[in-house]
Amino acid sequence: MSVPLFEPINVRSVEIPNRIAIAPMCQYAAPDNGVAGDWHLMNLGQYCMGAAGLVMTEATHVSLDGRITKGCLSLHNDETEAGLKRTFDFCREWGVSKLAIQIAHAGRKASCQVPLRGGQSLPAEEGAWQTVSASDIPYGEWHTPQALDARGIKEVQQQFVESTKRAVRLGFDLFELHAAHGYLMNQFLSPLSNKRTDAYGGSLENRMRMMVETFEAMRSVIPNDLPLGVRLSAVDWVEGGVELEDTVKICAALKELGCDFVDISSGGLHSEQKIKVGPGYQVAFAEAIKREVGIQTWAVGMIVTAQQANEIIADGQADMVMLARGAMFNPRWAWHAANELGVETLYADQYKRCRPDLWPGAEMLK
Ligand SMILES: Cc1cc2nc3c(=O)[nH]c(=O)nc-3n(C[C@H](O)[C@H](O)[C@H](O)COP(=O)(O)O)c2cc1C
Repeated sequence: MSVPLFEPINVRSVEIPNRIAIAPMCQYAAPDNGVAGDWHLMNLGQYCMGAAGLVMTEATHVSLDGRITKGCLSLHNDETEAGLKRTFDFCREWGVSKLAIQIAHAGRKASCQVPLRGGQSLPAEEGAWQTVSASDIPYGEWHTPQALDARGIKEVQQQFVESTKRAVRLGFDLFELHAAHGYLMNQFLSPLSNKRTDAYGGSLENRMRMMVETFEAMRSVIPNDLPLGVRLSAVDWVEGGVELEDTVKICAALKELGCDFVDISSGGLHSEQKIKVGPGYQVAFAEAIKREVGIQTWAVGMIVTAQQANEIIADGQADMVMLARGAMFNPRWAWHAANELGVETLYADQYKRCRPDLWPGAEMLK
């Protein structure tokens, strides 16, 4: 019997061995100018053993100023490239998952404390820096950003290109532009944070321009056979913000540009948002986009059990499921799901001794 969650899927030339992806999760563990270290090797390394078809890095920023916090990862110079190379090479050599990178700029949500220190805007004495955005409108009470001028826009886009080139050189299989959660691309997309009167503001087509141009610039330096997708917030959860019908149009435009997948999240743009969280709370957005646009669509958000994840794929609501906290809780989530659903999945060689066909104890876990 085929189990949809464990069917492979093709994204351009890349075959992902099952429909399970580890979602990007900031670790705030790179205090040394955005350089990945032991924690990143351990963190991504553990997921790569655990048979998720795809493991995505945390938001990896295109500049130091584009980082959310001083603990966030960056990929903007030789040092950050070398740091990430160590993690990447480990995952490639020992792991079984395809490897994706999320490339990001935090815009007006940069210059924050790490969550353990409060997660608020960095005070001046802790080394706050000037943030940038579509307009000079702060997120809540946070720093007031500088609106990017035409030159600033081109500079940021060039930073995305440079980071993407580095990610290509490292050997990633898939690339994702982070345009969700209220970060820079999202700040251009939403009418709540974008009050520009030039070609980058006003109509949805204009508000999309920053993301579209950045996507095209990244695409131009990624080899033809490798996929590039986008993470979007389907809705802002605030009146007057981005609604699902806007996101459907954004996804249709991305499809025209050759976008290989959209990864559908929500919220993060506005401090007054009213999110309704519950099991699979964002899946309906992914389902609507997949149906309306016919683009490969990934779902995320409180997808926790094997049955739930399998149903999302079986019912055609999404093409992939992404897990964040469920995978943090159990980095071998995919092994347990395969055991529960009665299928085989990939194991790193060193861990095969606990495979259900070789270890009778697995029966007791069903
Ligand atoms: C610790 C943590 C860090 C996160 N960092 C990122 C990130 O770097 N980029 C991103 O797009 N989403 C990030 N997210 C959001 C997750 O990718 C995911 O969309 C969200 O947690 C909902 O999925 P879940 O219910 O499976 O946790 C983060 C979530 C957590 C819990």
